[in-house]
Amino acid sequence: MSTFRPRRVLVTGGAGFIGSAFVRRALARFDGLDRLVVLDALTYAGHEVNLAEVADDARFRFVRGDICDHPLVARLFAEDDYDTVFHLAAESHVDRSIDAADAFVRTNVAGTFTLLDVARRAWGPDAAASRRFVHVSTDEVYGALGPEGEFTEDSPLCPTSPYAASKAASDLFVGSFYKTHGLPAVITNTCNNYGPRQLPEKLLPLMIVHAAEGRPLPVYGEGKQVREWIHADDHADGLCLAAERGVPGERYNFGSGDESSNLELVTRVADLVDAALGRPEGTARAQITFVEDRKAHDFRYAVDCSKAKEQLGFLASRALADELPRTVAWYLANEDWRRAVATDEHARFQRAHYAGRGGQGGRP
Ligand code: NAD
Ligand code: DAU
Repeated sequence: MSTFRPRRVLVTGGAGFIGSAFVRRALARFDGLDRLVVLDALTYAGHEVNLAEVADDARFRFVRGDICDHPLVARLFAEDDYDTVFHLAAESHVDRSIDAADAFVRTNVAGTFTLLDVARRAWGPDAAASRRFVHVSTDEVYGALGPEGEFTEDSPLCPTSPYAASKAASDLFVGSFYKTHGLPAVITNTCNNYGPRQLPEKLLPLMIVHAAEGRPLPVYGEGKQVREWIHADDHADGLCLAAERGVPGERYNFGSGDESSNLELVTRVADLVDAALGRPEGTARAQITFVEDRKAHDFRYAVDCSKAKEQLGFLASRALADELPRTVAWYLANEDWRRAVATDEHARFQRAHYAGRGGQGGRP
């Protein structure tokens, strides 16, 4: 198996949850890395505090900017001659895409196109030996499963939410640039991530913070939907492998096998928070509030990642049973971080979203 070695790297969306986990991992892992540039617009979801640990690394540079800004992206490619792009920048929250999808089309579709267009012009048609474009996508592009089965890389794209549709559209653009222009691109499709520094709009951090603060834990519908949970550090390892060993034109699923229904997971979180705060058992469980379901809520996602295992050597090594207590502890211990990422825009969306569905999610 030949190994590609990234040296001059562009990471889009590096100030977000997975992007910042990836940046820490890439700086530690890639031998011979000269520079790593993060391009991030710092939307409501991006925060430089997530990159504080690497800010003094001489190989690291942060650029605040928009992936839709063609002249800016072209200038960065000209300045740094990237050999590897890890594209994580996206609007990532399904509920927001149901409320208004404009930003999803702009960033996830047009922004991805901008990066592809600049990369193929900068790299030319014969870049397979010397360049990689890793497009970070999601299992949601495949649509929903029933209680059995798993998505493979050959499952048809059948997205439900506007978020998933925008990611599927970006996957198709990436595939078209590989086929048409020979752009050496690899697509990764990963299940639900968890871990430190995830914005408390996503299920796990939202429930941890609400449980700790004595607020309602808003479970959509009856909480029967099932998600597969991978630690963001395992996902970050997978993305490194996708660049090092991935074959251009191929798609790789990353998963963990750790499935849980939403209600099961929220109950576990509630108990962990009670235990951590020394409260009587059942305190946080009593905060569980069933609220109006998400529109067109996908029942289950699960991925077969045997291709990534066999071809890349990928294996998620962090189990939810071990990492969930650590994740809960991280959010409880990092109130400063919680304050640093709480924006007015985020608070406004949360208030409107949960008030509108009969919950009192309120302030983040
Ligand atoms: P996030 O919302 O935490 O971070 C997204 C980042 O992108 C933020 O830093 C934001 O400022 C930046 N960004 C948004 N629009 C931008 C623009 N126009 N220009 C430049 N930067 C912009 O998201 P995340 O959960 O870390 O997800 C990262 C990637 O992984 C996304 O592509 C997402 O679709 C994918 N993904 C996420 C999960 C998950 O469970 N969170 C699972 C599979 C795949
Ligand atoms: O599967 C990968 C995807 O996982 C990523 O592509 C997305 O970027 C990421 O946001 C995530 O999407 P989900 O919709 O699965 O994640 P979310 O945390 O929003 O919700 C997880 C489950 O919990 C889902 O079934 C909806 C439910 N939920 C969510 C929230 C925010 C609730 O019951 N209550 C809530 O308040």
